[in-house]
Amino acid sequence: MTLPKRVTLFEMGARDGLQNENARISTGDKVRYIDLLSESGLRWIEATSFVSPKAIPQLADAAEVFSRIRKAPGVRYPVLVPNLKGYERARAVGADAIAVFTAASENFTRRNINMTVDESLETFRDVVRSAKGDGVWVRGYVSTAFGSPFGDAVTPQMVLDVSVKLMELGCDELSIGDTIGVGVPSQIEALVPLLATRIPLDKVALHFHDTRGTALANVYAGLQQGVAKFDSSSGGLGGCPYAPGATGNVGTEDVLYLLHQMGIETGVDLAKVRAASRFIAGVIGHTLTSKAYQAMEATTTT
Ligand code: HMG
Ligand code: MG
Repeated sequence: MTLPKRVTLFEMGARDGLQNENARISTGDKVRYIDLLSESGLRWIEATSFVSPKAIPQLADAAEVFSRIRKAPGVRYPVLVPNLKGYERARAVGADAIAVFTAASENFTRRNINMTVDESLETFRDVVRSAKGDGVWVRGYVSTAFGSPFGDAVTPQMVLDVSVKLMELGCDELSIGDTIGVGVPSQIEALVPLLATRIPLDKVALHFHDTRGTALANVYAGLQQGVAKFDSSSGGLGGCPYAPGATGNVGTEDVLYLLHQMGIETGVDLAKVRAASRFIAGVIGHTLTSKAYQAMEATTTT
């Protein structure tokens, strides 16, 4: 078994993380959090979400956040976009990387974006066409890839079908999401080789939520299958308000600790991610779930 020598992390804290926080977070604090993350060596930081402010009130200040963050050289700041209206809002403030999002589960897609999976793909057709015309990079999310919160069955074949359709629309990369943190390594071992039959694995990221404590095991299973891109959120912040019980993404500090101790390079400074997490923990007023973050907080003062 050969594991990748280098892994790319895609930071979720500012979007997937903050979208699930109840306390109102000021625009200035969001900007400061992202600016701290930008100092860590992370090359991909999902900054915010141009969705309906009624759907996600916490990120209603997306335009202001995006405008005010310091765009560090070499760092991309993708933003979530559900439709053309979101795309236009994102472009108006200069976003050059976007993410569209659908799911394997029909029930989840209906609750999350009020569309069927097919309708979502039709909506994204126009968004991705505009993006390609404007030279904008596009990621496509496939949520609920390992299970739905609403009881409908999800199979690897369903995930493959949606993934292929997103790639055919012109997405540059896919992120396969365990939205509610039910997945286990045997599912990753089954799904990733199936995806690889149709999609080059260097275009596939895995996005694990740690609801049942299986996320880091799933990252390792992904590495064993040759995946070298993972989504994570600093401190383990996060969840999805449209997936009952969903908790945060796997912690960036946890993934960094695992990878670095195994000699896998990321280019990311763990201490600097921890500094960003510490800042946002002070803002949201509750402890963060990342074990590596907690261990650093317990044993060191700087
Ligand atoms: P809808 O109500 O069906 O849409 O919502 P609509 O077109 O009828 O519009 C309703 C209202 O929203 C209208 O305003 C629109 O103008 C406005 P009104 O006339 O009532 O005043 N509107 C917008 N405003 C600003 N920006 C926009 C926009 N679009 C419409 N882009 C819609 C459909 C998709 C808009 C809505 O359901 C929505 O925004 N959903 C987003 C839900 C969301 O953000 N979920 C969390 C992200 S997904 C996730 O976390 C999973 C992920 O992490 C991966 C994983 O974990 O698996 C990515
Ligand atoms: Mg998510």
